[in-house]
Amino acid sequence: MRTFTLALLGLLATSSAFAATTFSKDVAPILYKNCVACHRPGEMAPMSLLDYKSARPWAKAMQTAVASRKMPPWFADPRYGHFQNDARLKDSDIETIKAWVAGGALEGDRKDLPPQPKFVEGWSLGEPDAVIDIGEDFTVPAARDVYKDFVVQSNLKEGRWVRAAQILPGNRRAVHHVHFSLIEKEAGPEAAIKTDATHGVGRRALEASHFETVNGLSRVKDSAPVVDNACAGDGGIANLSGFDEGSMATMLPGKGPDVYDLFGDGSVAKYVPAGSKVRFQIHYANNKDSLTDRTRIGLYFASRPPERPLKRVDMRNRYFLIPAGAANHEVKRCYQLESDKLLLAITPHAHYRGKDALYELVHADGRRDVLLSVPNYDFNWQLQYKLKDPVLMEKGSHIEATFHFDNSANNRANPDSSKAIRWGDRSEDEMMVTWTETLDAKPQTAAVGN
Ligand code: HEC
Repeated sequence: MRTFTLALLGLLATSSAFAATTFSKDVAPILYKNCVACHRPGEMAPMSLLDYKSARPWAKAMQTAVASRKMPPWFADPRYGHFQNDARLKDSDIETIKAWVAGGALEGDRKDLPPQPKFVEGWSLGEPDAVIDIGEDFTVPAARDVYKDFVVQSNLKEGRWVRAAQILPGNRRAVHHVHFSLIEKEAGPEAAIKTDATHGVGRRALEASHFETVNGLSRVKDSAPVVDNACAGDGGIANLSGFDEGSMATMLPGKGPDVYDLFGDGSVAKYVPAGSKVRFQIHYANNKDSLTDRTRIGLYFASRPPERPLKRVDMRNRYFLIPAGAANHEVKRCYQLESDKLLLAITPHAHYRGKDALYELVHADGRRDVLLSVPNYDFNWQLQYKLKDPVLMEKGSHIEATFHFDNSANNRANPDSSKAIRWGDRSEDEMMVTWTETLDAKPQTAAVGN
């Protein structure tokens, strides 16, 4: 009996299941790969996870955050789609962090530490060809969430094809995320290429009559028609909202530059017209003290016009009405394909009452493929979901976007459940918009210089 017990103990001691899980050997590799892009000194996450000393007090919090999948931030239902930037932790990594905490969150031998990842501070693609900034040194008030729009004139003297762009926060501690968009377009090469996003002047005037500007921010008028389901029938006025404006680049914690030259051969680029106005929409978060910010975007010019311009198709329904207290209000918008296109990326956007978002590709014969499902939308994380392989959307098919909104008192983020809510720029109003990156399936313009 005694010998048996000893033999068993010996076995346990050498079996890997009982070898201590340590920070240096087991946990640091996970953190370096999945966390420190945001959790390192100078970045906006609240603490660094680069070394044992700073990570140790957060051991339990890390376990909770990874077990609940609150961290790393990633909201796509893993059952649908494959994404290049999928941030989900492997189950085995979560188990390792749990085992580390259960074993006393030991440091282990520093010699086991992997090399620290290297980060390029500043422009990661080198000096840009043009830089546009927000036009002022903005004093960020010490408040939890500040959403601020800066509209400035771009300084481009002529329209340019752009192969990449990067937004650099002026103050990394203050800036949580940034959306950059073009808001006025001249007729440039992109306009000359016929797309199903082309709309006439009459549409703009009709749409404009339903909107008003309050304190510089646009909102739909109370008198505007109500259309929750823009996919039903002809969708009415909601389908007049164009597909042609929108966000061009984003800065998100941990995300790199926007590279449009997808194949690295100059065949894909994005057009920025001369003299356009641009908008920086900045979320300043978690400020304990007042800080100054001057955020910039750097543009990298393409050396030639591309065979395939990269288009951002915005799917918006701006005419919904979410009743006061409604816990699961459905709003839809469809996008009909009039030519074959490739879908590259999807970014859902709603405000505090956004609850979930679903994207289906509905084929001409009625078959449905789920492209992306975001079951728990979170306004704080404006994630872009980049498809691993572009999805071919055939002429005759359509994308159906379905959002639900929670305007009840059970929604902790809800600023006011007693009011019916409609479209507006203010965070306290709502939006139902999706930015998709698409590419013509076949090149439309002849290659220049071939
Ligand atoms: C994309 C950037 C990003 C990545 C990647 C990321 N975090 Fe975070 N994390 C944040 C930010 C920002 C906060 C603070 C705001 C918040 O809690 O949402 C945070 C907060 C936390 C917190 C505090 C949560 C709380 O409840 O107070 C923990 C713990 C944490 N992260 C752990 C991790 C771990 C572990 C990983 C990797 C497995 C990770 N994070 C990856 C950005 C990130």
